[in-house]
Amino acid sequence: MNPEEDMSDHPTKGNIKFVTSNEHKFLELQEIFRNSGINLEWIRRKYEEIQGEGTEEISLDSARKITHEINGRFFLEDTGLYIDALNGFPGPYSSYVAGTIGNTGILKLIQGLDRSCRFLTVITYFDGHEFFQFDGMLRGSISKEIRGKGGFGYDPIFIPDGQSITLAEMDIETKSSISHRSLAAQRFISHLMGSR
Ligand code: IMP
Repeated sequence: MNPEEDMSDHPTKGNIKFVTSNEHKFLELQEIFRNSGINLEWIRRKYEEIQGEGTEEISLDSARKITHEINGRFFLEDTGLYIDALNGFPGPYSSYVAGTIGNTGILKLIQGLDRSCRFLTVITYFDGHEFFQFDGMLRGSISKEIRGKGGFGYDPIFIPDGQSITLAEMDIETKSSISHRSLAAQRFISHLMGSR
């Protein structure tokens, strides 16, 4: 048989499950994966996240907890907003902070401080045997006010370095051309392409 025809066991063939309850995350990644010829299957469900650890640890811990509940290979991701002047806060507490003080609270917190920050996404992939992690970072600064209707979460207060608009003022393709999430996904896709 022509080896090029027998691709049934290839990591880029078939579906890869992405576990998230966040539709925005799914839509952003769906596009990136489609461009690589990999079909993303959305497993829409919530899972518990540990507190008090880094984004990497949260991502791995969440994946470990659900391996026995998901059939076959899957991945999930955890993202944090790290503000330099606050020693990286909210970082692993990003979800809690978004749900409590929100973007308005962040703007108040950093009044008069340096506004540099970064997003970090850590993807954890379980191939059925082992866990693999891929990260992606986007540097930027916190805007002076809430701007834009697109995106989600902290997007309306995040201006990527080299840009003058927030992520929420960009369309999804533009955000994905530079985002922390897409960078982590590109690393993941390269791994899949190379891991025959
Ligand atoms: P988690 O990865 O869902 O735990 O995200 C933590 C917090 O960061 C949540 O409040 C999300 O809404 C927010 N968040 C995650 N990814 C992004 C992003 O790409 N842009 C803006 N906010 C985000």
